[in-house]
Amino acid sequence: LQLNDKVAVVAAASRGLGRAVAEALAAEGARLAICSRDRGRITAAADAIRDATGSDVLALECDVTDPAAVARFAATVLDHYGTAHILFTNAGGPPPGSVLDFGADDYAAAVELNLLSTIRLVNAFLPAMQRQGWGRIVASTSISVKQPLPNLALSNVARAGVVAYIKSLSQRVAADNITANTVAPGYIMTERVDQLLDDRAAREERTPAEVREDLAGDIPARRIGRPDEFGALVAFLASEPAAYITGTTLLIDGGMYQGLM
Ligand SMILES: NC(=O)c1ccc[n+]([C@@H]2O[C@H](COP(=O)([O-])OP(=O)(O)OC[C@H]3O[C@@H](n4cnc5c(N)ncnc54)[C@H](OP(=O)(O)O)[C@@H]3O)[C@@H](O)[C@H]2O)c1
Repeated sequence: LQLNDKVAVVAAASRGLGRAVAEALAAEGARLAICSRDRGRITAAADAIRDATGSDVLALECDVTDPAAVARFAATVLDHYGTAHILFTNAGGPPPGSVLDFGADDYAAAVELNLLSTIRLVNAFLPAMQRQGWGRIVASTSISVKQPLPNLALSNVARAGVVAYIKSLSQRVAADNITANTVAPGYIMTERVDQLLDDRAAREERTPAEVREDLAGDIPARRIGRPDEFGALVAFLASEPAAYITGTTLLIDGGMYQGLM
């Protein structure tokens, strides 16, 4: 994928989707800067990725909802590597619940977590991409940007803004050889999905295993996705061969989305 020695910044990377993206980029030869809220967890992730791939991995503590922390993270990364070529924006997911379960403060917190964190990370790393005339921005959202999910109202609302932002950004930076795309996972097996299945099982008074089987049965591929499949998609979007793909939203959902486009 021609990622050798590219500097890739991966947010929220100690576990789950962010971790899988970090692993995929490192396997392709990229040098990494990864962050999460917990120093112990992000350091352990960095050690494991370094051992598996031999790549340089800079691991830093950063809560992406904290503007000062994002600014410190970016300053440290840019000081350490001198630039950044690839940015994967990501954060935790907001709590589950349906649309009338929440007040305006809950929606504001979800926007802070999923939308404003994306904007802050882009603002921090885009100037370096513009200076070198090469960049890849991939923002993580959810299938909910195409098809709102029941009981994930906060996610449905906050993530729509990410698509609008990334689309607008892509148009502004395309001529600088910088692409900006959104990836929209359906169900990929991570701790977050485990928690959502537990939550659904408790509400429906069923076991998590039953709920998991039902969910897989509703997906045309008849299974929940694997994190490495998600990592592979993001690594491709971050690569040189993906230079002409920008401003788009790519589903990775085993065929779960029901619409035509
Ligand atoms: N998995 C799926 O199928 C799926 C589908 C659609 C959307 N999503 C969304 O994709 C995102 C990642 O999901 P996941 O399944 O990978 O979740 P996960 O397994 O719970 O992992 C979340 C990761 O984000 C980090 N994190 C959480 N809040 C953070 C913050 N404020 N600042 C920095 N790092 C933070 C966590 O690290 P620390 O705890 O160490 O901070 C952890 O590494 C979530 O927003 C989720 O809602 C996931």
